Amino acid sequence: MTEKKYRIAWLPGDGIGVDVLDATKIVLEKLKLNAEYIHGDIGWEFWRTEGDALPQRTIDLLHTVDAAMFGAITSKPVKAAEEELVPELKGKGLIYRSPIVRMRQMFDLYICLRPCKAYPGNPLNYKDDVDLVVFRENTEDLYAGVEFSPVPQELATTLGQLSKPFGVFKDLPLDQYAISCKVVTRKGSERIIRAAFDYARKYGRKKVTIIHKANVVRATEGMFFDIAKEVHKDYPDIEMDDANVDAICMWLLKNPKNYDVMVATNMFGDIISDLGAQMVGGLGFGCSGNIGLKLGVFEPSHGSAPKYAGQYKVNPIATILSAKMMLDWLGETEKAAAVEKAVAEVIREGKVRTYDMGGSNSTIEMGEAIAARL
Ligand code: NAI
Ligand code: MG
Repeated sequence: MTEKKYRIAWLPGDGIGVDVLDATKIVLEKLKLNAEYIHGDIGWEFWRTEGDALPQRTIDLLHTVDAAMFGAITSKPVKAAEEELVPELKGKGLIYRSPIVRMRQMFDLYICLRPCKAYPGNPLNYKDDVDLVVFRENTEDLYAGVEFSPVPQELATTLGQLSKPFGVFKDLPLDQYAISCKVVTRKGSERIIRAAFDYARKYGRKKVTIIHKANVVRATEGMFFDIAKEVHKDYPDIEMDDANVDAICMWLLKNPKNYDVMVATNMFGDIISDLGAQMVGGLGFGCSGNIGLKLGVFEPSHGSAPKYAGQYKVNPIATILSAKMMLDWLGETEKAAAVEKAVAEVIREGKVRTYDMGGSNSTIEMGEAIAARL
């Protein structure tokens, strides 16, 4: 059997996205993964000069690859973005939209997978032995973009007729309040919950915790929790429990070892995964995958940190661990395990450390130290 040659879109983006992907390339090349890395344009520069931070040629590329590695991109509010456009593009009504949100929607990358593992010897660990995996729904909920400000009269009238609790708002002037809709679907809920249980089964994890707010946000969160109870019937070998999103923020800090795989709707998952990332070293360690049926886009959860751009100072471990997740997703589990082992060894040894870990090594030196273990 000839070994498959992967096509991997290589999307550094801007700011430190470039630095961390350069270090990650050193690791992947050392692994001798049979892959072609194809550069894709994405980020602020393409917004400024072309009016599109995710040009069509990059979307076309993403349709042809097995997976993508993404660094980071700078985003700015709509008005500031308009001001930075080249003169020819100003005043044309172009609106900046986050490329990562667009990729998630366009390729239906419905899973946001964020492992949070405390590697022994990391001086930034909040507690040792933390090993959590967060499954965050990635396409709907309060991030679906269904928002009204000012509120249209038809909507106010309809809500006044249909919802008793809305009565307290109904006499307010339409520009004195705003509405963001939390839209949660049965399909979206079921597939993210199944993904969490499948993962638990595949990786021998014992428990899935459903994070919700079913007691207060009954329609959406209540439905999510009900679906979880249904789905759990198909996974009798995996334990399930649940927790309110506010309570879990306390319990996670107090007893992180009580948690294993966690699953939540989009916004709660976003919040929990930042909490989890901080418990295991913060932005330099927060890895993630945006995963759909056909495409996975793997990225560190940090942004472009413009003040460090091009200085090769930041920690590439988040990105190298994201590449490890990509290898797992591609089915290259041995190579994935080798990368994780190398990362763990370098952290445990503590000789090579970037500034966030209290050291003075460069991004590239960290990449080289990890590659040297492979
Ligand atoms: P950020 O994550 O870029 O950086 C915040 C701070 O965290 C940095 O100044 C640095 O001190 C530290 N940091 C980040 N990554 C690090 C690493 N690998 N190693 C060590 N320290 C690290 O967040 P910020 O400053 O809020 O946003 C900067 C830009 O990035 C904005 O334009 C924002 O919109 C964008 N952004 C993009 C994301 C993406 O590409 N997915 C995600 C978050 C923000
Ligand atoms: Mg976040």
